[in-house]
Amino acid sequence: MTVKFPKIVQLLVSLAVPILVVLSAVQSTIVAAESPIIDPKSRFHPVHSRKGMVVSQEIVSSRVGANILRQGGNAIDAAVATAFALAVTLPRAGNLAGGGFMLVHLAEENKTIALDYREMAPALASRDMFLKSNGDVDNQLARSSIKSSGVPGTVAGLLYAHERYGRMSRRQVIKPAIELASKGIVVNVDLSHSLESRAARLLKNPATSEYFFKEDGALYELGDTLVQSDLAKTLHRIASQGRRGFYQGKTAQLIIDEMERSGGLISLDDLKNYLVVERTPVCVDFRTNRICSMPPPSSGGIHLLQMLNILEGWDLHSLGHNSAAYLHRLVESMRRAYADRSAYLGDPDFYSVPVSQIIDKKYANKLRRQIDLTRASASADVQPGLSVDPETLVKMPKVPDAESVETTHISTWDQWGNVVSTTTTLNFSFGSGIAVSGAGFLLNNEMDDFSAKSGTPNGYGLIGGVANEIQPGKRPLSAMTPTIVFDQQGSPIMATGSPGGSTIITAVLQVILNILEFDMGIADATAASRIHHQWLPDRIGHEPGISPDTLSLLKGMGHSLDDIPRILGATQTIHKGSYGATMGASDTRRDGAGAVPQR
Ligand code: DON
Repeated sequence: MTVKFPKIVQLLVSLAVPILVVLSAVQSTIVAAESPIIDPKSRFHPVHSRKGMVVSQEIVSSRVGANILRQGGNAIDAAVATAFALAVTLPRAGNLAGGGFMLVHLAEENKTIALDYREMAPALASRDMFLKSNGDVDNQLARSSIKSSGVPGTVAGLLYAHERYGRMSRRQVIKPAIELASKGIVVNVDLSHSLESRAARLLKNPATSEYFFKEDGALYELGDTLVQSDLAKTLHRIASQGRRGFYQGKTAQLIIDEMERSGGLISLDDLKNYLVVERTPVCVDFRTNRICSMPPPSSGGIHLLQMLNILEGWDLHSLGHNSAAYLHRLVESMRRAYADRSAYLGDPDFYSVPVSQIIDKKYANKLRRQIDLTRASASADVQPGLSVDPETLVKMPKVPDAESVETTHISTWDQWGNVVSTTTTLNFSFGSGIAVSGAGFLLNNEMDDFSAKSGTPNGYGLIGGVANEIQPGKRPLSAMTPTIVFDQQGSPIMATGSPGGSTIITAVLQVILNILEFDMGIADATAASRIHHQWLPDRIGHEPGISPDTLSLLKGMGHSLDDIPRILGATQTIHKGSYGATMGASDTRRDGAGAVPQR
């Protein structure tokens, strides 16, 4: 049987058929354009959170910080808890007897402060204390002896930050570290390898060998448990007595006993008089962003900003990431910044560091004009660039008002928008290698960051002069670069920092440029291969992954390059995405790191 439709229906059907054919063709074109699998835009991905984030070199400690956020702590509580935990889980860099720097952004007050908890030279220190009778520097004395230790600042710095800006109790933020030390940590590959690589040095000191090796001197291996009972007791004293639990009483006495046993210089008065100093961050605008970082006695902030000022004059994006043309501009900017560092940077309480001159945009323009875009300069022809005699900047030491007033980085961000960026160090991996018997922690060897002799390189090949010579009570110059980046409206969008000695400043620079200039995601920006130049030695350090063709082009321009690639820095970064989530990326360059979101 056939059904007869009315004329109008026949007409509609006759029109609908070609329309459907066209629509289905369009649809199949759309389907065909869609790739079979979702196409990722990046090779590396950050950890996301709607709330807070903690990023550090050791994931167990990051978890401690994230847990503090979950319990209602703010970014400062989380950073302090993570730092105390790192003193247990990352003995090569986390510390109680080192020092550091911290940038804190307080959301409610819309204010950013810089805390200086760098070690101070003991009262008995003197300019030539590391010179042999023939006038050469005694590197063993400056780097591995008990005299290489400055008066520790870490505990004072962390407690200062916590007391003024934290929300939770001191006991709450130190408790996780006490538990890790007393119950023991599970040894990971990084800890076991780092102890193995420094065993010869560490086993020389009886207390270090007792704390970090088995009774027969054997190594702790992957999966073993390392209990640190003396360290737990010290942490307990700090938790219950605050600053007095470290700088006075039993812990202080154990430090002094160690000084007496091994010929150290730190006295009870040095410990009691240790000062945390609140300083004003250094900031400049880089295109539409504002970058704030650590002022002296770190050189990190000033030279980061100086290099950004120079680089701002070029359209870097169009040169292409890690192209020879881009890397040439980076190197020439680094060369000039590190030349200035060698002459003008030191503890601002002892030396009038010409901060505003170095970060002046006009000065950057002058330096940029000196750069030949086709040829490498020779470092021998590039001298510190200001027209001031560094000798004239020495000033009478002004010790700031009392508190009435191996390196590791922690970045934390809380749900209220408070941000912490802090870098702390013992200097070398495991510091001086000398542990305080009975107290469970290692002493720093930060005195090697001073210039022991004008023009003689320190452990990182860095050169200094009168600005950074040793004086009692002075703080050694640092490269640590805890940094916070702000958007046009003045809201923080990024916190970052790195270990790596002299390479810290250039590692931080490249992560920032990768994000702001090359539009990379934070994880790609972290993973991208880096280069380094520090004026002297006149050579480019480069990581695996910079193309051999690019290296040849740089050589062709007259640059000298390291023969072998090496790893440069290990950044710990948090980025606030435009859609409001925080993104954390811990560097994969060193094993065991972790970004942990607040749950
Ligand atoms: O303050 C400084 O610049 C040096 N003591 C930092 C040492 C360092 O980063 C070692 N870490 N890998």
